[in-house]
Amino acid sequence: AALAPQDAATLPRSEDDGARRPYRRAVVMTMGALHAGHLALVEHARSLADVVVVTIFVNPLQFGPSEDLARYPRDLEGDLALLSGPGLLRAQDVVFAPTVDVVYPDGDPAVRVTAGRVGEVLEGRSRPGHLDGVLTVVLKLMHLTRPDVAVFGQKDAQQVVAVRRMVRDLDVPVDVAVHPTVRERDGLARSSRNAYLSAEERARALALSAALDAGRRAAEAGEGPDAVVAAARAVLGERLADDDAVDYVALVDSATLEEAGPGTGEALLLLAARVGATRLIDNLPLTLG
Ligand code: PAJ
Repeated sequence: AALAPQDAATLPRSEDDGARRPYRRAVVMTMGALHAGHLALVEHARSLADVVVVTIFVNPLQFGPSEDLARYPRDLEGDLALLSGPGLLRAQDVVFAPTVDVVYPDGDPAVRVTAGRVGEVLEGRSRPGHLDGVLTVVLKLMHLTRPDVAVFGQKDAQQVVAVRRMVRDLDVPVDVAVHPTVRERDGLARSSRNAYLSAEERARALALSAALDAGRRAAEAGEGPDAVVAAARAVLGERLADDDAVDYVALVDSATLEEAGPGTGEALLLLAARVGATRLIDNLPLTLG
């Protein structure tokens, strides 16, 4: 046998591997309760690959003890009907909707992925362990579905950063593609959790996208990070009710999630707020400077 090359870049790439499939496979991972945001990811996946796999699995590992795992909306029949719509799944495509004991046959796994610092800020502060649970199931689902490319939504911006980081840090042989956030006509980001909102809460939830808009206008006017955050906060303060609560408003470097500073170019304006009993998140990519 030949000596292994010193430089991993000179190892044969999967494209050169005779054992590789002659077609490309894309995966879209979801927790079901599908809506237009998920379906846009499926359409995007179709444009990237010959075969699309959609996974539907409500992953217990990414829910905290006081979170909505038990009441998270589940509707496999409805999801399959949506996925059968025009331009979505074809005969060669697959829906993988395993039960919990298929994914975790021995109960909670002893070996897990940790997101590190990326999992400790923002969402990680309010939801300790959440991103570790996400990365663990994402890696498992990558192994189970063996995709060439995995498609994620910008809606969960921190999840995208964590997945990209995992793929890089653990040399996962999967490309990561991102699709922009899909919104309702009035601006509310599509989310399975929007189903929890009463009519009044639904109206107040518009505060999130309106706050991002205000932040964007401030950034476009050349304001610095503090003023951008303040503009977004002001809108949340005006439009949310006293019983609602802002969790965070942050402007961060889009690659590292570290607080934006004078040198930051590509940034993310991220926010999380509780509207009634429902916690919502939203974000907007911004170019600073
Ligand atoms: P879920 O919340 O069901 O979202 C599945 C995918 O759809 C994620 O990539 C998410 O970012 C994307 N998505 C949701 N709403 C969107 C919107 N309005 N616009 C664009 N994309 C949207 O995210 C998860 O599930 C889980 O954490 C998962 C990755 C499946 C791991 O369990």
